[in-house]
Amino acid sequence: MQGVTIVDHPLVQHKLTILRDKETSTRSFRSLLREISALLCYEVTRDLPLEDVAVETPVGPTQGKVLAGKKLVFAPILRAGMGMLDGMLELVPSARVAHIGLYRDPKTLKAVEYYFKAPTDIAERLVIVIDPMLATGHTAIAAIDRLKENGVKHIRFACVLAAPEGVDVLRGYHPDVEIWAAAIDERLDEHSYIVPGLGDAGDRIYGTK
Ligand code: URA
Repeated sequence: MQGVTIVDHPLVQHKLTILRDKETSTRSFRSLLREISALLCYEVTRDLPLEDVAVETPVGPTQGKVLAGKKLVFAPILRAGMGMLDGMLELVPSARVAHIGLYRDPKTLKAVEYYFKAPTDIAERLVIVIDPMLATGHTAIAAIDRLKENGVKHIRFACVLAAPEGVDVLRGYHPDVEIWAAAIDERLDEHSYIVPGLGDAGDRIYGTK
């Protein structure tokens, strides 16, 4: 699929299988999600630009490379996206964070915004939107619409699982936004859950069911 990168690293696939297991505890689910998110982050940031800097080692001077430009922004979609944030911040500790509060209206399945707080200069930064599940794509589209309204030009989307329907809808609305996922599953069920998926990601992170 164009614009979609499946992170098929053996560690990611191994952890994903345990994540899917309905017997996995809340505590294990949380730490596995954090670990998978760090590994996804490694791939999403693979092509970030670098610049040369001089560095003095204990043995002598040399040239090194550091990330160029403004710090990037992680934008978790509340609440399940928060489960991915710490793993991403472990790899990029100086990143900024934009919180996007959206819920799915159970009747219309459309995204409704209830919170948005982002760095004031977000328009000048690369923004990585994070949500473990790309299901219908409605919340992802609403989050990206909101970021674009704020002038953001460079956006990527990282999730653990995607449904083919969600990928098609998101890529259709926002073809400039590339997607990273650990897997693309079979389909959505009649309640818009990903099959086989892992259930409700928010409930599994926070132990609310
Ligand atoms: N959100 C979830 O948490 N799980 C799904 O399967 C779909 C959307």
